[in-house]
Amino acid sequence: MELNINSLRPLTGDGRRLFVETYGCQMNAGDTEIVVAIMQNEGFVYTDRIEEADVILINTCSIRDNAEQRIWGRLSEMRRYRRRKPSLLVGIIGCMAERLKERLVEGENGVDIVAGPDSYRDLPRLVREAGSGGKGVNVLLSSEETYAEIAPVRLDKNGVSAFIAIMRGCNNYCSYCVVPYTRGIERSRDPQTIVAEARSLFENGYREVTLLGQNVNSYSFGEVGFPDLIRMVAEISPLLRVRFATSHPKDISDRLLETMASMSNVCRAIHLPAQSGATSMLARMNRKYTREWYLGRVEAIRRYMPDCAITTDLIAGFSGETEEEHEQTLSLMREVGYEFAYMFKYSERPGTFAQRHLPDDVPDEVKTARLQQIIELQNELSEQSNRRDVGREFEILVEGVSKRRDDQLFGRTSQNKVVVFDRGTHRVGDYVRVRVTGCTSATLLGEEIFQ
Ligand code: SAH
Ligand code: SF4
Ligand code: F3S
Repeated sequence: MELNINSLRPLTGDGRRLFVETYGCQMNAGDTEIVVAIMQNEGFVYTDRIEEADVILINTCSIRDNAEQRIWGRLSEMRRYRRRKPSLLVGIIGCMAERLKERLVEGENGVDIVAGPDSYRDLPRLVREAGSGGKGVNVLLSSEETYAEIAPVRLDKNGVSAFIAIMRGCNNYCSYCVVPYTRGIERSRDPQTIVAEARSLFENGYREVTLLGQNVNSYSFGEVGFPDLIRMVAEISPLLRVRFATSHPKDISDRLLETMASMSNVCRAIHLPAQSGATSMLARMNRKYTREWYLGRVEAIRRYMPDCAITTDLIAGFSGETEEEHEQTLSLMREVGYEFAYMFKYSERPGTFAQRHLPDDVPDEVKTARLQQIIELQNELSEQSNRRDVGREFEILVEGVSKRRDDQLFGRTSQNKVVVFDRGTHRVGDYVRVRVTGCTSATLLGEEIFQ
């Protein structure tokens, strides 16, 4: 147990065990590590065994209806744990807490604690309140909170790659999206604290950091913009790889591309969610760019970094989507030749502009069929991209031992593709030059190149 030497008052946790279950995006995974840091400082002890827990927090996602349905399922299972340990406290934190607020304490699966993404510093108090028979609820959003100085407790540790949240919130209000409502307005974290966190990771053996935010390229703190921040982090060491996610196409500037191209440890991979290939649809989505503009940015990326991988997010069946618009999404995919894509069926979210003004009118069978076409096409494109890599050389950063064979390691290329190769004398955290000799649908197979 960590002692809080600054205070003589009893710590809320007093050795009680905390378990946190995390759903949703990387931002949520990062927040869980901040929550654990805050709670440990109050005398709670983190456990990865739910049966042992005195407090269970579920860090939730609201992005699509099925994400929330999963959480409701989980909440009904909590009854079993409560039966075994009547003093157990259960809390919902994260995006669903922000969206549903007090409603989550009601009913037979009602929870004891509800905390939105900006109120984690208040969690110890909320737990105290719940512990004395009340309900601990705080869903206030903040225009300033970035948890800047809190050192996250690294939970999912391979000891090589880590995520660093550089901003929170989103101001883009894409018409289908719930994030601006659950995460509040955009704010950037002090660059000095970001660089200090990255440097400390590097000194502790980490070799890759991913700078995280809903729209990282609108990062701005005083004079420091995103390209400046990338440079500051990449200058820590040429042995530290730098990645970032996610970029909004409207903000992917030439200055950013120029900075990336000038530093070989900034990875050659850009996640550039298109959502749709049709300008008319992009307008309904409030994405603030056209198909042509998007393709112009893709061309710029290729001009600055011919070997840069481009990946994307796509939504099938948003309001009013015609067959023609769907075809344009397929043609955009072919034109760009995405390395990888996350693909979703539109799910209407309460409170969004689309839910209020744009009918969810594409029949579910049509959405499903279109999504299926998108997935099949992406599988072909990913396979083509993997086949193109056969015979090429890459430097990979070793992340772990292969799941299938323990005499093999796996690592990633700068383009973020996984390569499996014979271990030799290498260890996790090494850089190794490999030649790709073959591929499966998801993985490249390689062999080490000896100079
Ligand atoms: N900020 C990031 C994405 C965050 S959400 C960005 O703008 O790129 C991740 C992805 O979920 C989005 O890119 C979008 O493709 C998808 N998504 C968001 N809202 C959705 C909804 N209502 N239905 C289906 N997919 C959605
Ligand atoms: Fe949602 Fe759009 Fe913000 Fe991404 S940019 S989080 S899709 S509103
Ligand atoms: Fe989900 Fe919230 Fe992330 S809605 S995708 S957990 S920002």
